[in-house]
Amino acid sequence: MSAIIVIGSQWGDEGKGKVVDYLAEQANVVVRYSGGNNAGHTVVVKDEAYKLQLLPSGILYKGKTCVLGNGVVIDPEAILKEINGMKERGIDTSSLRISTRAQVLLPYHRRQDEAEETARGEFKIGTTKRGIGPCYMDKVARCGIRIVDLMDPEEFAAKLKHNLTAKNELLVKLYGAEPFEYEPMLKQYLAFAEQLRPYVADTTYLLNDALDKGEKVLFEGAQATLLDLDHGTYPYVTSSNPIAGGACTGAGVGPGKIDKVVGVVKAYTTRVGEGPFPTELHCAMGDTIREAGHEFGTVTGRPRRCGWLDACIVKYAGQVSGLDALAITRLDILDGLDSIKLCVGYLYNGEIIKEYPASLKVLSKVEPVYEEFAGWKTDTTKVRRYEDLPAAARAYLERLSEVAGVRLGIVSVGPNREETIIMEEMF
Ligand code: GDP
Ligand code: IMO
Ligand code: MG
Repeated sequence: MSAIIVIGSQWGDEGKGKVVDYLAEQANVVVRYSGGNNAGHTVVVKDEAYKLQLLPSGILYKGKTCVLGNGVVIDPEAILKEINGMKERGIDTSSLRISTRAQVLLPYHRRQDEAEETARGEFKIGTTKRGIGPCYMDKVARCGIRIVDLMDPEEFAAKLKHNLTAKNELLVKLYGAEPFEYEPMLKQYLAFAEQLRPYVADTTYLLNDALDKGEKVLFEGAQATLLDLDHGTYPYVTSSNPIAGGACTGAGVGPGKIDKVVGVVKAYTTRVGEGPFPTELHCAMGDTIREAGHEFGTVTGRPRRCGWLDACIVKYAGQVSGLDALAITRLDILDGLDSIKLCVGYLYNGEIIKEYPASLKVLSKVEPVYEEFAGWKTDTTKVRRYEDLPAAARAYLERLSEVAGVRLGIVSVGPNREETIIMEEMF
């Protein structure tokens, strides 16, 4: 195995960072291929937590090449802050490579994101307000500024001037927001450009060369299947393609080079932001899970909405990303519960529906069909072999795997690297 994609199977925050960090020990290269600093991946090493937003979760090892591919949107201020924060903690970031083809996220994208969210009123998406959507909008509208442009002061100055004129019109006239001044922004971003220059590379060649040499490449998904622009709960989604297919477009690697796709699944479900969530718990159990799991957003600090694990979602993720194996995380958070429910189907108008509904009207009205499992009421955090998990926990996981039609590959029972049960070698 030389190329593995790790994706989020639900609505994000499944523990992709933990799984990628674990697998990165054996990898040569770790690549982010979509999203930006809307992601928040927490990696815990020896009880010390690192909150990564743009940096790939391979950065904590020495000697791994860490790539931000063409599909990522790069906020220069944010990435430099993250790099400097890592340096202060003694982490070497010199192996970072940023694609010349990645889009640059500018302050007007952040202001546009804020203004659009306010204007949406009750239809707000609940974005992270990091400017991610507007930056991808510009990419698709073909007026985006790429890292290669940022590296060329003349090119950048011309493009910024042109874009800023249009953005100021939009901000002031449509949204009544403050405009930006050109000169200070130009000066600031040309200074950022020089700080970023050592990291910039043609990562498409870098990655394809690495794969041709038989090196091991790990693709780190951000966001998740149901936040995917095409396959998620549109419009309550992000503006990129976090699914496995996004790794090919977002990194410049052909699908034939991919050996395995791993779907990360939290042992229950959470969601931040708006949109339908069939297994959401509005009762005390939702609060119990939120408190047991400290379910508050890494990026925005918002309380995450909590609910039972939904096997219909995992099955859907299995289809759209061609999942080979599941990596279940946070099983330990359920250790104290008396009983646990698993959603195995949806009822709509009294009938079981087969497909994951495209219509949000339908999705918001479906009734989950639950199977109830006895809780195991045992501390699982010390377990390191699958067969040593309590029988009740294995029954729960095996039923999930059966309904989803994807085998179990990893079970995580704590945030630290060693709190991991491996059922199949991944690389
Ligand atoms: P990501 O966005 O998918 O990388 O997930 P987040 O990092 O936003 O959220 C997952 C949280 O769960 C992080 O704080 C991880 O350190 C933590 N975590 C990951 N796996 C486990 C696990 O098996 N058990 C526990 N208790 N925490 C975990
Ligand atoms: P990780 O990688 C959870 C959600 C936001 C919002 C919607 C759109 O940590 O799993 P955006 O700012 O992207 O335009 O917001 O997507 N969202 C996430 N939710 N985890 C994430 O990333 C997310 N990234 C975006 O809350 O509902
Ligand atoms: Mg997260």
